[in-house]
Amino acid sequence: MTEPILQSRGLTRSYLSRTSSGWRRRVLNAVDGVDLDVNEGETLAIVGESGSGKSTLARLMLRLEQPSGGIVLYRGVSLTDLNRKQWRAYRRDIQAIFQDPSSSLNPRMRVEQSLAHVARRHELAKPAQLRDFLARHLAAVGLDPPDQYLTRYPHQLSGGQQQRIAIARAMMLEPRVIVADEPLSSLDMSIQAQVLDLMRELSCRRSVGFVIISHDLNAVQSIADRIAVMQHGRIVETGREIFDAPAHPYTRLLLQARLSTDPRAIRARLAKSSAAQVTNQKTDLPGLQR
Ligand SMILES: Nc1ncnc2c1ncn2[C@@H]1O[C@H](COP(=O)(O)OP(=O)(O)O)[C@@H](O)[C@H]1O
Ligand SMILES: [Mg+2]
Repeated sequence: MTEPILQSRGLTRSYLSRTSSGWRRRVLNAVDGVDLDVNEGETLAIVGESGSGKSTLARLMLRLEQPSGGIVLYRGVSLTDLNRKQWRAYRRDIQAIFQDPSSSLNPRMRVEQSLAHVARRHELAKPAQLRDFLARHLAAVGLDPPDQYLTRYPHQLSGGQQQRIAIARAMMLEPRVIVADEPLSSLDMSIQAQVLDLMRELSCRRSVGFVIISHDLNAVQSIADRIAVMQHGRIVETGREIFDAPAHPYTRLLLQARLSTDPRAIRARLAKSSAAQVTNQKTDLPGLQR
């Protein structure tokens, strides 16, 4: 078997937080001893309710934040031990997209300028071929005709179009894995489906892997090869069959919660059934975030 492209071992990130009364500070392990493997080409979904540590885990894997303990490995080497060449490869192989797609675009630059900046920095195309290169990548994420989009500013694009550009920006680098933190949450339902379709297509046709982070099990069920369930900073269950055979009580709660679409019904049911398993946790449930 080939080595996982990304791994974490004992990965921990703690923050100092204040209690609600504010007089006592305590240490919160936002990510708490996580062991995770991301295999090349797979789509791994990380699900869990708001505050379970998903974004912190993503930031650690993307090296946007340093761990308090444990390590992240890229192709078997700890990120802290990568030499220059390996670091450059990591920087290209592992890309990110975020919940707010406008955050990855400079609001004062036309799309073309923003993307050209990335292309030049990584020497992805010769100057004479740059525009064709960008147009090709926009067309590949369904923005056709590309010229129409290259000349626009981010505010002239819809959320779905912006997210497609964020994906194109990542795909230009021919990454092996795209870490996507709640990539659908800011989009309308119908647009969510289109962006999911695009990610599915890219994973099949361009064999790029995804780590999709979501508080919404429904959204990721159709695309994930494997699902990791997070609670209180820990991965409580990982598998392919968690929808059919959830082993952990928390996974069963998440699955129960998503069946009902009435937020009040979900809260009531969870409040009743979760008392034993989910203590001291905000009832910020999957599907209710926004
Ligand atoms: N920079 C930070 N400083 C203090 N606490 C933080 C910080 N970032 C996240 N947290 C806390 O860590 C926990 C996990 O947060 P997060 O990773 O954003 O969860 P999720 O993405 O699953 O909603 C939360 O309790 C959050 O308040
Ligand atoms: Mg988050």
